[in-house]
Amino acid sequence: MNRITLLLALCTTLSTIPLSAYAQSISPSQTDTMKQLIAGYEVKVKTEAAKAAKGKPYTVEPFTVDNGRQIFLKSRNWEGEEQPACATCHTDDPKNEGKHAVSKKAIKPLAPVVNPERFTNAEKVEKNFSIHCRELYSRDCTAAEKGHFLTYLLSVK
Ligand code: HEC
Repeated sequence: MNRITLLLALCTTLSTIPLSAYAQSISPSQTDTMKQLIAGYEVKVKTEAAKAAKGKPYTVEPFTVDNGRQIFLKSRNWEGEEQPACATCHTDDPKNEGKHAVSKKAIKPLAPVVNPERFTNAEKVEKNFSIHCRELYSRDCTAAEKGHFLTYLLSVK
């Protein structure tokens, strides 16, 4: 199995089908979970920057909606191979239901504003980050990437 086939298989395994009317606001528990995660990533980014600076002054780039959107949309092209992006499965608009290219199975929207089940459990979020980042980039996403990504998803209205 090549990487793309593996990705598609993963998509099939993980996807969920029901089509329902989606919510229109982010619940307090989603906001809490996401903000706590973002705060944790911020601490990690600062700690790592401080360590790398070895006592010298350093600056830390704040998490931004734009960087998060880039991460979501951009397909990386490493070693000359066309690589899928997060948006390959989750579509260009995280409010949309994703659709599996082969099985046609739906993936519930990622945006918390339309899906109250997303981002309610920090462990599940971390697990999904690890799985998808490794599939796409052969490594977990960094704390900075996750911070930008969640900042973007929180902004989607
Ligand atoms: C191969 C298809 C695929 C790709 C590519 C993909 N995802 Fe996913 N992702 C899924 C599926 C399927 C689910 C739904 C799992 C579920 O409903 O429990 C999901 C769910 C998630 C969740 C779970 C949120 C929650 O709390 O429920 C996060 C976070 C996530 N993806 C992040 C990413 C990021 C970041 C990328 C890009 C680096 C990415 N995904 C790329 C298929 C994919």
